[in-house]
Amino acid sequence: MKLNIQHLLIIILFLFSMSCSPEKSYYKVSSPDGKNVIEFILDENGTPHYKVLHDEKIVIDTSQLANFDFQEQPSLNGQLKILKTSTRSQDEYWEMPWGEQRTVKDNFNELIISLGEEKEPKRKINVIFKAYDDGIGFRYQFPEQNGVDSIVIMDENTQFKLAGDHSCWWIPGDWDIYEHLYNTTKFSEIDAISKRDHPDLAQTYIPENAVNTPVTMRTEAGLHLSFHEANLTNYADMTLKADKENLAFQSELVGSDRLGYKVKRELPFHTPWRTIQIAEKAGDLIESKLIVNLNEPNKLGDVSWFKPKKYVGIWWEMHLGKSTWDMEATQDMTTYTTSQASGSKHGATTENAKRYIDFASQNNITGVLVEGWNTGWDHWIGFVDREGVFDFVTPYADYDLKEVVKYGKEKGVELIMHHETSAAPRTYEKQLDTAYALMQKLGIHSVKTGYVGKIIPKGEYHHGQWMVNHYRRVLLKGADTQVAINAHEPIKATGIRRTYPNAIAREGLRGQEFNAWASDGGNPPEHLPIVAFTRMLAGPIDFTPGVFNIKLSPYKENNQINTTLSQQLALYVVIYSPIQMACDLPESYEGHPAFQFIRDVGVDWEQTKVLNGEVGDFVTIAREERETGNWFIGSITDENSRDISINFNFLSDGIEYKASLYRDGDDAHWDKNPTSYKIDQMTITNESELTVHLAEGGGFAMSLMK
Ligand code: NOJ
Ligand code: CA
Repeated sequence: MKLNIQHLLIIILFLFSMSCSPEKSYYKVSSPDGKNVIEFILDENGTPHYKVLHDEKIVIDTSQLANFDFQEQPSLNGQLKILKTSTRSQDEYWEMPWGEQRTVKDNFNELIISLGEEKEPKRKINVIFKAYDDGIGFRYQFPEQNGVDSIVIMDENTQFKLAGDHSCWWIPGDWDIYEHLYNTTKFSEIDAISKRDHPDLAQTYIPENAVNTPVTMRTEAGLHLSFHEANLTNYADMTLKADKENLAFQSELVGSDRLGYKVKRELPFHTPWRTIQIAEKAGDLIESKLIVNLNEPNKLGDVSWFKPKKYVGIWWEMHLGKSTWDMEATQDMTTYTTSQASGSKHGATTENAKRYIDFASQNNITGVLVEGWNTGWDHWIGFVDREGVFDFVTPYADYDLKEVVKYGKEKGVELIMHHETSAAPRTYEKQLDTAYALMQKLGIHSVKTGYVGKIIPKGEYHHGQWMVNHYRRVLLKGADTQVAINAHEPIKATGIRRTYPNAIAREGLRGQEFNAWASDGGNPPEHLPIVAFTRMLAGPIDFTPGVFNIKLSPYKENNQINTTLSQQLALYVVIYSPIQMACDLPESYEGHPAFQFIRDVGVDWEQTKVLNGEVGDFVTIAREERETGNWFIGSITDENSRDISINFNFLSDGIEYKASLYRDGDDAHWDKNPTSYKIDQMTITNESELTVHLAEGGGFAMSLMK
């Protein structure tokens, strides 16, 4: 549905001169509801600045814009004049082919300022601002200009001056990986450098005291802000350097030591959007659609060949050390070493895959992931020269790919392909045609990709322009062959799923796997109540919830999941993804009454409501399933127990729902008694109210069936 309501301009655009400094110019643009205001200021020296206000209070104080360093060219830094300005408004709706809601409102006011240097070489740059009710975005455009076909950017120095020393939830600005724990500090206490040595990461590079995005903040007055970017295309990931003296962030692009620059582009081009989500309530950050709205509409058309799904797989058993990815050796995720074992513990055998397919088909689960199916794993970790090692079409001798696909089809279960590239993208690209043709031939419509390790060639990083372009090539190859991509060790989500809806999910955070082998005790109970308000604002997450064997016995005596079992259920609703894994071993689920929730829970939503929440403390989300109209609710808490009250007035009038509540037992505790749970049956209408107790590290899940 596209309502092209190009209604009357509601932009309040005005230009006035101040008598004291006639050359200083101001323009401003407001959000449709008038609450968010962006001011553009060109000062007496021709240096462009912007300012952001919410309800007339400063969110971003006067901060410099359009400040770039180039290779073999003077920096662009002031001495500009305004060549032209224009404004535009839009109020439209668009539909998500799959998503956390069906219909998205895309309503903004735009202001474009065209700037040019006063003196030679008279370069030009445009700044485009968009003001939405849920935040603001701006980006630069390098238009076509005389004598310049391309530019080489050494850095972009965009400033974000804060109005106070806010509370921040951040991960370090690592050029290679997002799999860090979140830190909760004041802005002035951000210390990314101290996060440099990470025993459990195969790759990490933190050159500056910078954070990665989304980075979320709360001001003293209780306003919530989250800084990120949208539509990261053919450019480098933006990290944000903490300038403590000025209480400001400054953009710091991820570079390439091999090429010696950050970005190379032909003109004309746009940078990604620099975004600030602004919310009075923490939960409104989650409901905000700013990031997808700042991306271009669907370019693929019908993608109904991809069906949102729950999946199981030959995966957790390797992370537990019960089986191995490769046929003969044993790999230890904790130490990243490989040793020869006696006898094969290979997980990806035809027989084991059929066992998972049987389990899936009996339990309303339509996908099975098989890792370790292809040759190359014997050289996976601890092996320096990973180029040319993985083969994406040749199965191990004990795995009959065609037979597994056929068996799955008979049972209504589709295989999810797996491609671990071991961060050797050139090896992968050489095989893209054949690997994706194979999936197309077999009718496999999704693949999980992986990029563990330091990028080959040396000097490239996961988040630099060179890799951004690699990830995009893979996505486009998938689009051509009807394959959806779930990338691990990915580039961050920036809303590209709107344009290419075969970008279904990604990791890009410290996932469940760390609980199986991390040497620091795994993800603490506050992890997911932070993730919901940070990483999740970027897009769908393949977190792989659903561990029932919380203490991981007998496999990993020193590790465990740091939540209750009920919280594991709640994650199917709280953490959004159109593919959700039930990651534990089938034997952990067989005969378990709580598994009914995983059987029932939806994966594709008509609408989403965040009922309550505070960053890092707790969050409760309700989602209505498409087609059935059933509702599911998930609530999670950090290490503190609490009572959550729900008013069901969001349900439709006159409908009685048969509800099942899966909650923490009275004696539940994430460490002392994580598997204590209760199931209560009840009838719920839109007049019902309910208070549920959440244990320390606990949660609840609820299904409301029509
Ligand atoms: C890291 C991924 O996050 C994990 O899910 C996968 O099992 C391994 N790499 C192997 O590809
Ligand atoms: Ca990972």
